Formats: sequence, C-alpha cells, structure tokens
Amino acid sequence: MRVCITGTDTDVGKTLVSSWLCLHTGASYFKPVQSGCVDGTDSDTVRKLAQVPIVPEVYKLQAPLSPHAAAHAEGITIDDALLTLPSTTSLVVEGAGGLWVPINATTVYLDVMARWQLPTLVVARTTLGTINHTCLTLEALRHRGVPVLGVIMNGEANESNRHAIEQYGNTTMLAKFPRLENVTTQALKNIPLPQTLQQALGVFSHGAN
Ligand SMILES: Nc1ncnc2c1ncn2[C@@H]1O[C@H](COP(=O)(O)OP(=O)(O)OP(=O)(O)O)[C@@H](O)[C@H]1O
Ligand SMILES: [Mg+2]
Repeated sequence: MRVCITGTDTDVGKTLVSSWLCLHTGASYFKPVQSGCVDGTDSDTVRKLAQVPIVPEVYKLQAPLSPHAAAHAEGITIDDALLTLPSTTSLVVEGAGGLWVPINATTVYLDVMARWQLPTLVVARTTLGTINHTCLTLEALRHRGVPVLGVIMNGEANESNRHAIEQYGNTTMLAKFPRLENVTTQALKNIPLPQTLQQALGVFSHGAN
C-alpha cells in the first residue's frame, strides 16, 4: 500500500488519520515538507501514536506558515525536484495543508502530487462548508490526473453532507472517523479500518489490539 493523504484544509485531521492508517497497517510515514516545527512535527505525532518507521522530512521549517513563506523566513527556497518518494512498499505520505498550498514561487502542492501519481485519500470535515471544499478538492485532483481513492470524513457524523459529497463529488466515503475524547494509541486501535477502506487500499488490517 502506497497512499497520499491530502485534505480540504490545514488542521482537518490528516495527521490523525495517517496515524490511524499506519497503526493498523504497519505502513511507514513520510511528511516531505513540514512547516510550523515550532509547534512540533507531524512525524513526531505519528511516531508517538503509531510506533511505525518514519521517513525523514526533506524540509523542516520552523515558522507556522505556508511552506513557501516559512522557507522565505529562513532565507531558502524549496526545490520541488527534491520532493521524491522513497521506494518503501508500504507508505503513507502526508501533504501540507490542502492542494493549493504554495511550495515555491512556481509550484503548489498539487503539482508535486500530480508528479507522484500516488493513490490519494481526501480527509474532509463533516460540518457546514465541507461539500464545497471536498468537491473542489476532488475536481482539482482529477483535473491533474491524480488517482482518487475516496474521502474520509473526520468529526461528528453528518449523513446529509456525506450523501451530498458522494453524489456531487462522484466519490465514496471510505471511512467515518469519529471525534475522539482523547487522542491516544488505544483510541486509534479501538477504531477498526472499515472493509471499504481496506479494499480501496488493497490491505488487510493488522487488527491492532
Ligand atoms: N477526530 C478527532 N478527534 C479529536 N481530535 C482531533 C480529531 N481530528 C483532529 N483532531 C485534532 O485536531 C488537530 C489537527 O489535526 P491534524 O494535526 O491531524 O490536522 P492536519 O490536517 O494534519 O493539519 P496540518 O495541515 O497542520 O498537517 C490535532 O490536535 C488533532 O489531534
Ligand atoms: Mg498534519
């Protein structure tokens, strides 16, 4: 399984969903571009929650800004050609923010994903606004020929929004990820990977206990 996790926005739950996937499949984790290191890194979060191998970041930037701005603040420019994937057979790759996040003056994250051509999951909120954000994200991925596996909706279930996203986004919701009281390894273990998601990923869960 090699999969890219993108989202409709920053803070939408990509790292938590990545941790969950890694925990249940044993896949390695890779966050090629990390900004906002001052607040801790996503790799540290996944290492702690899922205890899986972590591929080191290509860029680790301190400022909690878009990568192009965080790089600028350190007097560097991100070379998008360096954003290549390791050959690891079981890998979860997390993007930064959403698709139109600038990497440098001429590249946004979607350009990099179009080059990678990894099967991609979209993490979306369940709340008002998510139909628009999710369908725009799906449209942009397809326009650039990125293979889309489906959507994971994160938060309190909203069946109306789920149906709308499936209908208007011509996609499948592969998992409902619930709101967690406490974000712990055990809490993630307690949520099995749904069959639909396992099939889309072509994996069988370890059935983490
Ligand atoms: N279902 C949930 N239950 C409880 N807390 C959640 C849930 N989803 C996300 N969070 C919390 O919200 C915050 C943002 O989530 P997360 O870091 O996964 O977002 P992200 O999309 O990876 O953000 P970024 O764009 O910065 O990488 C974290 O503190 C995370 O623990
Ligand atoms: Mg993250």
